[in-house]
Amino acid sequence: DGDEEQSQDYLFKIVLIGDAAVGKSNLLARYARNEFYPNSKSTIGVEFQTQKMDIDGKAVKAQIWDTAGQERFRAVTSAYYRGAVGALLVYDISRRQTFDSVGRWLNELQAHSDMNVVTILVGNKTDLKDAREVTTAEGKALAEAQGLFFMETSALDSSNVAAAFQTVVKEIY
Ligand code: GTP
Ligand code: MG
Repeated sequence: DGDEEQSQDYLFKIVLIGDAAVGKSNLLARYARNEFYPNSKSTIGVEFQTQKMDIDGKAVKAQIWDTAGQERFRAVTSAYYRGAVGALLVYDISRRQTFDSVGRWLNELQAHSDMNVVTILVGNKTDLKDAREVTTAEGKALAEAQGLFFMETSALDSSNVAAAFQTVVKEIY
């Protein structure tokens, strides 16, 4: 009936990108299933979850794609990005190297997707306070310089995880 049709009106493809072990799969697991895996293995190929969301009272479905950060485990690049309207570009606040890779990921994203793909820069693992190597100000500054949204998250303690996904979907919608 009408309500069901309406709930199918919006299906947004969102991709997770960023270096190996920054927490992409755990952000998705926390968001979609409220689960966390302390010893998760590297993603092989591509996985995705379809998540229903409520944006301003409208039913929206996000199809969230996840692949490996490491080249040899990754999905075919062009297929992965095709049709994406949103992206979460994730780094690990406790490993500076993963923050240094952000430019490279942005280049790949821009080369393979639409100019206007809504992108949020996500500094994950804020629970690792004592191990922090990238300040919040640095993350914010890079996001501003590149015209990205920005948020720091923890898949472990759940902070800002839903907010990060919702920021992207709200902006697309
Ligand atoms: P690839 O699939 O190899 O690209 O890695 P990934 O980005 O999907 O990372 P994954 O989610 O598999 O997490 C890597 C490791 O970091 C795992 O041991 C997770 O338990 C851990 N981890 C993920 N998110 C967090 C977090 O917010 N805090 C802490 N402390 N650990 C996390
Ligand atoms: Mg993974």
